[in-house]
Amino acid sequence: MEKVVAIYPGSFDPLTNGHVDIIRRGARLFDRIIIAVLINLEKAPLFTVPERVEIAREAFIGNANVEVDTFDGLLVDYARKRRAGVIVRGLRAVSDFEFEMQMALMNRKLNPEVETVFMMPAEPYTYVSSRLVKEVVALGGSVTKLVPELVEARLRDKKHARETLRA
Ligand code: PNS
Repeated sequence: MEKVVAIYPGSFDPLTNGHVDIIRRGARLFDRIIIAVLINLEKAPLFTVPERVEIAREAFIGNANVEVDTFDGLLVDYARKRRAGVIVRGLRAVSDFEFEMQMALMNRKLNPEVETVFMMPAEPYTYVSSRLVKEVVALGGSVTKLVPELVEARLRDKKHARETLRA
């Protein structure tokens, strides 16, 4: 039987426990799940793409069917290149729905052979986003249990480096 390859695309700036939860669920459902970090030249990210890749690789070390890669251009072109039939996206709240529906339907228009599958993270992560995590850390708050420990440590390092630069 043909293996089902899924792509989990995103910015992952940084990886949160919400992402980790979705990836674990995806890894149980599909033969292979590829965490695909978007190379987006427009945004001003906190972590570089190589840093984000390194974090995801470290977080899923030992998980044989979880792969980490980068992509640019159209997601459906990348899916075709990787012979992936599924795009996985997490849905946290109704507020996510509108944008996710637009993306899913646009991707379907671009390539009807790729199916978007939505998954819900465990309840403790339904309010977690990379953007809020960055804001909380920048303002001195704790994100313990909301991001993997290795991400928390790297967020602390970044904050420290920025504060040292400013001093
Ligand atoms: O983590 P994010 O920022 O919500 O991820 C958004 C992402 C990477 C899934 C989306 O921006 C994307 O697929 N970009 C690739 C460009 C593309 O294919 N655009 C048309 C999709 S409708």
